[in-house]
Amino acid sequence: MLRCPPMPETVLVCVAWPYANTPLHAGQMAGAYLPADIFARYHRMKGNRVLMVSGSDAHGTPITVRAEAEGTTPEAVYQKNHQSFVDTFERFGVSFDLFTSTATANHAEVAQGIFQKLLAAGYIYPATQTLLFDPKVGRFLPDRYVEGICPKCGYDGARGDQCDNCGSTLDALELLSPRSRLSDATPEPRPSEHFFLKLSAFNERLTEWVAPQDHWRAAVRNFTLGLLREGLHDRAITRDLEWGIPVPVEGFEGKRLYVWFEAVIGYLSASIEWSKTHGQPEAWRDFWLDPSARTYYFQGKDNVPFHTTIWPAMLMGSATPDETLALPYDVPANQYVTMSGAKASSSRNWAVWMPDYLDRHESDPLRYMLSAVMPETSDSDFTWSEYVRRNNDELVATWGNLVHRVLTFTRRNFDAQVPPQPASLSESSQRLLDRIDGAFEDEGKHIEAVNLRAALQVAMSVAQDANRYLDERAPWTAIKTDRDHAAESLWTVINVISGIATLMQPFMPFTSPRAWALAGNTGDLQAVGWQRSVIAGGTALPEPLPLFQKFDDSVAAEEEARLGH
Ligand code: MF3
Ligand code: ZN
Repeated sequence: MLRCPPMPETVLVCVAWPYANTPLHAGQMAGAYLPADIFARYHRMKGNRVLMVSGSDAHGTPITVRAEAEGTTPEAVYQKNHQSFVDTFERFGVSFDLFTSTATANHAEVAQGIFQKLLAAGYIYPATQTLLFDPKVGRFLPDRYVEGICPKCGYDGARGDQCDNCGSTLDALELLSPRSRLSDATPEPRPSEHFFLKLSAFNERLTEWVAPQDHWRAAVRNFTLGLLREGLHDRAITRDLEWGIPVPVEGFEGKRLYVWFEAVIGYLSASIEWSKTHGQPEAWRDFWLDPSARTYYFQGKDNVPFHTTIWPAMLMGSATPDETLALPYDVPANQYVTMSGAKASSSRNWAVWMPDYLDRHESDPLRYMLSAVMPETSDSDFTWSEYVRRNNDELVATWGNLVHRVLTFTRRNFDAQVPPQPASLSESSQRLLDRIDGAFEDEGKHIEAVNLRAALQVAMSVAQDANRYLDERAPWTAIKTDRDHAAESLWTVINVISGIATLMQPFMPFTSPRAWALAGNTGDLQAVGWQRSVIAGGTALPEPLPLFQKFDDSVAAEEEARLGH
């Protein structure tokens, strides 16, 4: 029977836009960038059409506050960190098709276009807000620029958006004895005209859309339904600021689009930018307008409301008869990874900063570790001792050692070639080959459902079975009395290694191609497809170098000591 290859699917992989105010840390990798990359790599290997986009979130008070603290400009802050992000993604193997920023002319144009469509449809309306104004500086103050006494706990030093002492979310107008962080003046409430997004108009449509999303993570769907049950409130989507995208309406020249309103539009503008720079200016339409395309939004849990309510409402509201943009197919948001028991914090320097990590260590052991503890259903904790343990016991002892002992032994005893394929296979060899072939489907299903921990476990358990098979058949002993028996074991395991390397590729794109080549393959592993490449008897085997390095326990202690200093 002739089987037609399945139709390629179209998959848009959208990943949270990081604020360009600090370098990236390992928690952000585990939360969004690594899962997105694993997912995208797998789909590319399946032969699907993938576009993976994100960019630096260049606007907003996180950037201006940092610029002020460093005595520099928001532009310089975003430029520096954007470069750092690009470098981190390159070295950590996060394979964006485009990682751009919200500071491009293209993004401003697309964001203003969506604003105008929503305005024309009546989903954006102007209204007067009472805001705090600094009379000395002559400016309205963003929430973060106001300090005062927390009305909830009395802490003197609460910010206008939040109290760091009791954790309450605040409105700047509620602060007692408010003062401006720009001048120390007492800010005055004054009216200011702003645009509001009419989220209240979408409550019902969003509920109808979210309720049947059975494939969403329970936490994401339940949280969203909870928000919708309480009812969405209209939100101001412009600010009195100089840094950001201008509001495209006469009379609003001094105001800017609110950072969250425009940042989520980045998914669309980045897709358009990618199309333009790849000489197919209409290609973005295949990802955004074709109803069979699937769009995934990889996020940390704090971003869920923006991606399951606000952005979908913006997409619904800006639809026209000839252009209806796709709603998210899934928002596989992760919980948090804590570092040695505490939440990552840049002010306390409690984080594993990616540029530092990458200066000292290889990428794949961290990709492996973070995949193994990926916080898909609950928070998980990263510790350096667990990192060292998993590196030594799992990467070195189980996977790396399987590759190393089989290939050095085969090279030594079979003239640096794969032994001939046996005319018939014994039951245990056949069973192991069936295992590896079945693993492609098992792991693929888990990845498609964004259960990446389970997916990695599938690959690792085949490596464990291969070790068990080798221990039972002991080719090192058999070679002395029954060379064919040893040859069969080695031919089988080399073929299984070729398959495991492929299964590992989405997770460990640096060492997997090396393992795959050590098994006798040539070419590009990422391009071979989601299948085991068969290694014929007689294939030349290159000299194996270890895939992973064993760590001394002192590595954990040294790294642990860097946290918080
Ligand atoms: N910059 C925001 C953050 O780091 C995330 C924005 S995701 C976006 O939390 F899609 F809205 F851009
Ligand atoms: Zn408080």
